[in-house]
Amino acid sequence: MFLKDRYGNPASTASSAAMAKYDEALELIRLYRGDPIAALDAALAEDPDFGGAWAARAGLLVQQTDAAYAEETARSLRAGAAANLNDRDRKHLQAATDWAEGRYQEGTMRYARVSQDNPRDLLALQYAHVGCFFLGLQSELRDWPLQALRAFKRGEDGFSFIQGMAAFGLEECGDYARADIYGRQAVEADPRDGWSVHAVAHVNEMRGDLEAGIPWLADNAQHWAPESGFAYHNWWHLALLYLDRGDIAQVLDLYDQKVRPNADSSVLLEGIDASALLWRLKLEGADVGNRFEKVADAWSGASEDAIYAFNDLHAIMAFLGAGRTADVERTLKAMRNAAADSGDNAYMTRKIGLPLAEAFVAFDAGRYGECVEKIVATRGIAQRFGGSHAQRDILSLTALHAAIRGGFGSTAEALAAERLAHKPQSPWAGRLARQARALNRVDA
Ligand SMILES: [Fe+2]
Repeated sequence: MFLKDRYGNPASTASSAAMAKYDEALELIRLYRGDPIAALDAALAEDPDFGGAWAARAGLLVQQTDAAYAEETARSLRAGAAANLNDRDRKHLQAATDWAEGRYQEGTMRYARVSQDNPRDLLALQYAHVGCFFLGLQSELRDWPLQALRAFKRGEDGFSFIQGMAAFGLEECGDYARADIYGRQAVEADPRDGWSVHAVAHVNEMRGDLEAGIPWLADNAQHWAPESGFAYHNWWHLALLYLDRGDIAQVLDLYDQKVRPNADSSVLLEGIDASALLWRLKLEGADVGNRFEKVADAWSGASEDAIYAFNDLHAIMAFLGAGRTADVERTLKAMRNAAADSGDNAYMTRKIGLPLAEAFVAFDAGRYGECVEKIVATRGIAQRFGGSHAQRDILSLTALHAAIRGGFGSTAEALAAERLAHKPQSPWAGRLARQARALNRVDA
């Protein structure tokens, strides 16, 4: 007789040993912790015909947005198709197939429909949520978790994780007050919940609230950091706050110890944060030593994959920082080919990734006018290539620095004023506004 998973969803295994491992994997996935693939493999070792476990495995792998996992994904999809599957598993498998074949939007929508039909399927909800993040579907980041909350009682297994997802979505939609409440409640329920910690970190980042933001991350790391596969990103958020304060030494220390503890890591999601932090430091004129070279090494294997424009832009940042012109050209060429293709990444690359990559190249070459123009023309739809407001802030920062360096007084002052209006408490916004004003005084 087939069993049910920890949330009560019918599953496609009769092995209680396989189910125990699968339930463990569900917890690791929702916590972004430990090695959920190993837990799924342990479930599959108990029951190789457990189709739901194969589907979960495929879903996890495709959402790494890294072509390095393509073979393992294909193996999971093949094995899943031949295993025991219930109707819900079949839809999970189809959604993962969509992702594997570049139909990110369709796959995300499919996961969302599974969640709407089965609101206790927290895995479908989480994969839909992650899909929304990569696609920049901001209101869905908020609304799909809010929909699923109806199926859980407060305090029940899973409730707080849905609150944490909702918190992040609320933050991305600008509802900081409610995001803060939901996120803090979720962390109180489970302090290991790095995604909920992260949602509150975003609230503090968007408000430029260093007083709340630094202790929120620094004082609770003993709960959220150990064994977290996501810790580097929360540490990245802490580094941003120190950068806001102007404490470059602390930022570099965090970079070396926490954001990029393994300088040879080839995990692309880590490479994104590393590139983004170094680029911000470059904008500030800080000496980052040979750090760009190490990150560029990590990107070089993926620079021609062109499966996700957001990744490609971050590869370009690392290559520019390292002075690797040939790698920049290789990546641009791959992006131009991808832009001419069909599918979701083609749109993202054509409309957003490529113009932004060209803007960053222009910045590096000192063509500041071109840089500002391309970023300003693209920034308004840049959420469509994914990431968070905090990550895409690199666009506004680069445009502002380009305006300052190019001596475009009124543009610089406008962009600086915008920043200060959003983040009145931010020392960084204050510094940039003073630089922009000084420029205009020189102009006059
Ligand atoms: Fe974040």
